[in-house]
Amino acid sequence: MDPEPTTLTRPTPQSSTIERWARDYILADSWEAKLAPPPVPSGFGDETIEPPARPGRGASFAVASHGEKSTGKSALKSAERRARLVHTFLHHELQAAELMAWAILRFADAPPALRRGILGVLGDEVRHMNLYAGYLRARGYRPGSFPVRDWFWERLPACPDVVSFLATMGLGLEGANLDHASRFAERFREAGDEEGGALEELIAREEVSHVRFALTWFARLSPRVARGEPLFDAWRASLPPPLSPILMRGEPLSRALRERAGLDAAFVDALARYKP
Ligand SMILES: [Fe+2]
Ligand SMILES: [Fe+2]
Repeated sequence: MDPEPTTLTRPTPQSSTIERWARDYILADSWEAKLAPPPVPSGFGDETIEPPARPGRGASFAVASHGEKSTGKSALKSAERRARLVHTFLHHELQAAELMAWAILRFADAPPALRRGILGVLGDEVRHMNLYAGYLRARGYRPGSFPVRDWFWERLPACPDVVSFLATMGLGLEGANLDHASRFAERFREAGDEEGGALEELIAREEVSHVRFALTWFARLSPRVARGEPLFDAWRASLPPPLSPILMRGEPLSRALRERAGLDAAFVDALARYKP
């Protein structure tokens, strides 16, 4: 049995602006603080706050340098393998939440409505984290039971502008999650884990609005879209190298959810066909 996570020994100071709150969220270094941040202040400030280059990872985290091996169908029959997988999803949600906070700081000159929207998405990701944490605790595990690798953090800070961030995080990683979560909903149910299946289905459904949000702002702000480039080409060109559409789709594609998010058939077909 591994030790309980360290608790915060000093009270978290109340952040007075959204930017300070965002910085504190990234730097908070316990799973406890990541799962239950203090209330978000009501307004943006006017000071410039550099986004932290790395997230806080204290003793309650086990950080790995390699990713988990992908999980074959039969492996999901093991409750422990399913818990490991849910822990990986929990950590994806955490990185998404942190990188939303990062974007609020890094793209401080983005339209306030866009930054507010990103803050709203961040709140959803924290809620998703808590759903996954609840699944783990009910099975004798907890956040921190398994190692994590900060893959999103190795890639996203390469985004040079908010258009690229929306392309990579919203249309890319969250878009792929529509495919992945739908597939895992089915696989958890096949393994007899109805609760895990329902959880994946719920997350997939809720991520639709995140992808729609990113698409709306990407279409509004992308100079390539303004020049009349097809959405898929504009999107692909906005991913920071070496990222490619290959990493941003699941097998099979969830056409239904992607369509509900506003991605048209031309985009989904181009994504399905894409070869490097
Ligand atoms: Fe999420
Ligand atoms: Fe999301």
